[in-house]
Amino acid sequence: MGMKFFVDTAVTSDIAELYDYGLVDGVTTNPTLVAKSGRDFKGVIGEICQIVEGPVSAEVAALDHDGMLAEAQVLAAIADNVVIKLPLTLDGLKTCRILRARGVKTNVTLCFSANQALLAAKAGASYISPFLGRLDDLKIDGMALIRDIRTIYDNYGFETEVLAASIRSPNHVKEAALAGADVATIPPGVIKSLAKHVLTDKGLAQFAKDWADTGQSIL
Ligand code: G3P
Repeated sequence: MGMKFFVDTAVTSDIAELYDYGLVDGVTTNPTLVAKSGRDFKGVIGEICQIVEGPVSAEVAALDHDGMLAEAQVLAAIADNVVIKLPLTLDGLKTCRILRARGVKTNVTLCFSANQALLAAKAGASYISPFLGRLDDLKIDGMALIRDIRTIYDNYGFETEVLAASIRSPNHVKEAALAGADVATIPPGVIKSLAKHVLTDKGLAQFAKDWADTGQSIL
């Protein structure tokens, strides 16, 4: 229980660092993030799965059902904690239904409407990924989508977890938590910035100065 944090990156050094802070419950990747990392896709997924026990989303590249299913088999064989990321298309939903029947976990991605999320839940998706930031880019209230999906899933007891994606700021994380998202997938820099507050820094500087003035040592 509790809100889970996934790291939205394919950079293993960032994942390992945040994991050591206890801030990583899972990882999400996508073709753009893999391209940015400059790494071999299957190799980097295997490496991430060795760092993190939690779910690691790896996205298919095929656009047709047969291709997606064949790629899913290859990706799922990399490690037990691989979650197959599928696009929210009719072929993606068909693939999701079959993987569900086979006991393979799925993350249905590129969700921009409550009806799309309803279809993913009906297909048995483990996670639905509504993209907040990209809706905000279009001046559409991304958080309203999270709230709508939460309500619809709760109305029917769907077990699909709401994974708030395309998070760009600490405020997105707060709002996703208020809206009852099960998971937020967050870029490494945004996760780190959650711990920051100007008054924390200011207060700490004052405490450090006053402590030095006492001339004492704890050790
Ligand atoms: O992993 C999918 C999502 O989080 C992408 O975010 O910032 O590219 O819209 P962004």
